[in-house]
Parts: sequence; structure tokens; C-alpha cells
Amino acid sequence: MAKISERILDAFFGHPRGLPGRIGGAIMARGNADQERGAVERAAPSAGARLLVVGHGPGVGLALAADRVGPTGRVVGVDPSATMRQLATARCSDAIAAGVVEIHDGTADRTGCADTSMDAMVSVNNVMLWDRQAGLAEAFRVLRPGGRLVITVHRHVLDTSPEQLANDVTAVGFADVSLQVRPRRMNSPAIELVARRPAD
Ligand SMILES: C[S@@+](CC[C@H](N)C(=O)[O-])C[C@H]1O[C@@H](n2cnc3c(N)ncnc32)[C@H](O)[C@@H]1O
Repeated sequence: MAKISERILDAFFGHPRGLPGRIGGAIMARGNADQERGAVERAAPSAGARLLVVGHGPGVGLALAADRVGPTGRVVGVDPSATMRQLATARCSDAIAAGVVEIHDGTADRTGCADTSMDAMVSVNNVMLWDRQAGLAEAFRVLRPGGRLVITVHRHVLDTSPEQLANDVTAVGFADVSLQVRPRRMNSPAIELVARRPAD
């Protein structure tokens, strides 16, 4: 059984819900914005691209991605937390109205996206919450050949070694897997993994 401190943190950040979830959402929107920006930059979506954001939380990455892909692009966000979907919907209301952003109930292993339908997929601070094997297989399925996977996570919450994560990504078929350590101010560094689904 999880310790009480873990259950409280889970309500703020892991599976955000209720008032703690809304407070956690505000903290994440402020504290993780640079990391979200870096992840979208690494995904490098061009105008008109299709980008999947898994575990978007309060939606900062969705809004940044929408700016990058522009009016002809498409950004799909999936998150199992109704509280996070509400916050992200409010943050991205203009882009949703313009048909650029859509937000759905989903998880890394259940995105609802069609095979090879995405140019890139981004995950910020949630890979430790996945069924990792199933989530990576889903990422491989929905990315087009040549599509890019970006996973970034605070080192202190990652539940495995960065090298094991890279091995797992390679095992489902991704190529050109790279790992970077990104220092953060007054906090543990972020691990950033970038990989590519090989072209057919
Ligand atoms: C720590 S928050 C990170 C939110 C945001 N990306 C950030 O870094 O600020 C974790 C998010 O992952 C979501 N989540 C939980 N389980 C998930 C899963 N299996 N697949 C995808 N997202 C999940 C949570 O609902 C929550 O919004």
C-alpha cells in the first residue's frame, strides 16, 4: 500500500484530481514550462505537422505545439485526468476553436490515434506512470515512418535508469536513440530521450 505522502503527491501530480490537482496543475504550468518548450523544440514540428502530446497536464506543451504547427497543423492531447483535461481545454480554447488542438481521455498505451498518423510524439514528466512496454509500442504504432519520439522526465521521479529506458525504446523498434541530461535550476536534472521510427 502506498505511503500517505505518496498518495497526497499522486493527487497533486501523478493522477491529479480535485483541488489538489488544480493546485498541482498551476505548479506544473509554471515550473515545467521550460521543459515543455524544450520537448516541443526537440520534436521540431514544422507548419502543418501532426503532433501527439501524451500526459499533457495543464496544457502548456499543447499551446506551444499549436503555435509551432500553425493553422494547418493538428495537435492531439491525451491525459487520463479530467482535472488536467479541463485546465488544458481552458488554456488552449482558441486553438481548439480553430480546430488545431483536440484533447481526449487517454493514456500512453491507449491514445486513440490511427496507425502512422503522427509526425511526432511528446511526453513530459509522465513516462514513470505508464505501462512502459505498452506505451512505447503504442508510440511506435501511431508515429509515421521517420516520425520522432521525445520523452523528457525529471531524473528523481524516473523509476528506472535512463539507459534502461533507452534500451526499452530500442527494443520496440526505434532507431537513433539519444539521451541528454538537461540541468534545471534548484532541482534535479531532466533526462531527455529523442528517437526516430525508422523509415520503411
Ligand atoms: C506530473 S504530470 C506532468 C504534466 C505535464 N506534462 C508537466 O510536465 O507539467 C503527469 C501527467 O500524466 C498524466 N498521466 C497519468 N497516467 C498516465 C498514463 N498512463 N499515460 C499518460 N499520461 C498519464 C497525469 O494525469 C498528469 O497529467
